[in-house]
Amino acid sequence: MSGVHDGDVVVVTGAGGAIGSAYAAGFLAAGASVALVDISDESLGRLEQSLEGPSERRRSYAVNLTDFGAVADMFARIEKELGPPRVLVNNAGVGKIIPILDVTEADHDWLVDNNLKQAFAVAKEAARLMIRHRLRGSIINIASTAGLRPIAHLTTYSMAKAAIIFMTACMAKEWGTEGINTNCLCPGFIDTPMNHALWETDQGKTVLANLPRGRLGTPEHLVRMVMFLASPGAQFINGAVIPVDDGLQHVFPF
Ligand SMILES: NC(=O)c1ccc[n+]([C@@H]2O[C@H](COP(=O)([O-])OP(=O)(O)OC[C@H]3O[C@@H](n4cnc5c(N)ncnc54)[C@H](O)[C@@H]3O)[C@@H](O)[C@H]2O)c1
Repeated sequence: MSGVHDGDVVVVTGAGGAIGSAYAAGFLAAGASVALVDISDESLGRLEQSLEGPSERRRSYAVNLTDFGAVADMFARIEKELGPPRVLVNNAGVGKIIPILDVTEADHDWLVDNNLKQAFAVAKEAARLMIRHRLRGSIINIASTAGLRPIAHLTTYSMAKAAIIFMTACMAKEWGTEGINTNCLCPGFIDTPMNHALWETDQGKTVLANLPRGRLGTPEHLVRMVMFLASPGAQFINGAVIPVDDGLQHVFPF
């Protein structure tokens, strides 16, 4: 092992998804031990099959992160099985395109719980262990450009992501003195299945026609920034909101 993250224990939530799996692979390649967390057993199984390198440096945890008790239990297992986490990539999330007038209570709760509530619960328990073990922790919350600029038909998702941006500022303030750096990444449109339904709509076609440099992002565009934020080079960065969107937030015609 010779990576920047040798010896780090990294928790990646939503690891079974398109972007989370790339974060997990990146940290594993850099020498970290990685807790792979997702609600979906099936996607974790697929991920395990695809990952390279020694299997003792990774473990899968199939947990519904909207359950505060289950999150606390999961961190107790991670601490015991891999060690206390120094890095959290708070990446799990869900999306749905719905006009405001059609948002049901169930839609609203699902989007807020699976984006905001779980991200709060996870960061809280990760920080508890970082503080207890006096680690120079790095928490990277994943929001979206949709949390910075309004996108029609993504209102509830955007509200939850905007709250994650503000949550980052609160955590940076409260935990900065404990040696934890909390920052927030705002990806633009990344070519993953989460967006495939959008591309079928007129709105999605407008998005594709107006991308600032005519291209979608790939998970790899995000991995390097997340790994940098978790590295010693980022020790003076706390409470930052970093768009990785190819300049999308400055053109936004949608
Ligand atoms: N794809 C994009 O263009 C884009 C843009 C901006 C932000 N993001 C954000 O990046 C993150 C990853 O997106 P993706 O495209 O890889 O999506 P994805 O759907 O492929 O992955 C998200 C993962 O989170 C998991 N998850 C959801 N709720 C959970 C819960 N309660 N408990 C445990 N796991 C849960 C899902 O099972 C899934 O595997 C999300 O937070 C998303 O909002 C994505």
